[in-house]
Amino acid sequence: MEQIDWKNLGFGYMKTDYNIRCTFSNGKWGELEVHESEYMSLHMAATCLHYGQESFEGLKAFRGKDGKIRIFRMKDNALRMQDSSEGTLMAKVPVEVFEEAVLKAIKLNERFVPPYESGAALYVRPVLFGSGPQIGVKPASEYMFIVFVTPVGPYFKGGFQTTPFVIMREYDRSAPLGMGKYKVGGNYAASLVAGERAHELGYSNIFYLDAKEKKYIDECGAANFFGIKNNTYITPKSASILPSITNKSLMVLAVDLGMKVEQRTVAVEELATFEEAGACGTAAVISPIERIDDYDEKKSYIFSHDGTPGPVCNKLYNKLRGIQYGDESDVHGWVTVVE
Ligand code: PLP
Ligand code: COI
Repeated sequence: MEQIDWKNLGFGYMKTDYNIRCTFSNGKWGELEVHESEYMSLHMAATCLHYGQESFEGLKAFRGKDGKIRIFRMKDNALRMQDSSEGTLMAKVPVEVFEEAVLKAIKLNERFVPPYESGAALYVRPVLFGSGPQIGVKPASEYMFIVFVTPVGPYFKGGFQTTPFVIMREYDRSAPLGMGKYKVGGNYAASLVAGERAHELGYSNIFYLDAKEKKYIDECGAANFFGIKNNTYITPKSASILPSITNKSLMVLAVDLGMKVEQRTVAVEELATFEEAGACGTAAVISPIERIDDYDEKKSYIFSHDGTPGPVCNKLYNKLRGIQYGDESDVHGWVTVVE
């Protein structure tokens, strides 16, 4: 078996042994199938290719000090994929099918779950797409659901270190009443140009503003935003951002830590009042923000002067990771132990 350098994993694709597939045709889901190939045969008129009828999810499995594998909030991901099906008129994957496929994919690829000490995790990527042919703009009558896994390290370089982000008003990722609240591929295609531009300028990512008024922070292309001030966790409320499961968890943990939580619009100028800020998500975990540059207004909002995360980001990060790795008790019932 090849040696994996667990400690230096980035957020990339690595081939693992098996993936799990399930197809929907004639109005019903079939049995789960185990595949070794990373490839599939797909109709050239499949709706996913032409009309973007697809959605995906991202969740993680962690190996604890006790050697056990824990999956974080799997059911929430299953339910969010069902929401995405509502937004794209795809067949819904039943929660039991989603959970069984995820468990199977993890168990069959157990050798790829990184060791506890590495701080890495097994990323689980369920994907659902219209596989049946259509040439008119109509939903497919056949769907394919696939779950594959790949071991990953941090999404933003440096992991739990502060990095800079940017606001640029010339890009939007989703329309005010559009698809931003669903986890569909088109949102990510829409974020590629802005994301590459931000990287070229030395930023981790771009924070999009609300597309209608360009006044309020929405999120970045792969994570939600939060700010901290006066012992309060503040995160944007918007119809065009993805309801992040990590963010939802951090709001609960903030209350556990004796903080107040506010989910409301966050105007750009309010950034000046935050003591700390972070990007959060499954891949991003908490990625503490060094500063946000307002590219158009030529202003900088600074949250860390020495590159280190602030005390609240630290506490929230340790709590979240503690639960995920099994170091802290799972008081909220978020974890599924793989038996
Ligand atoms: N926002 C976007 C656009 C994302 O792609 C993700 C990643 O899933 C998130 C936020 C964070 O969501 P979660 O915490 O559920 O991973
Ligand atoms: C995640 O955090 O799971 C994501 O899907 C973000 C990104 C890799 C698209």
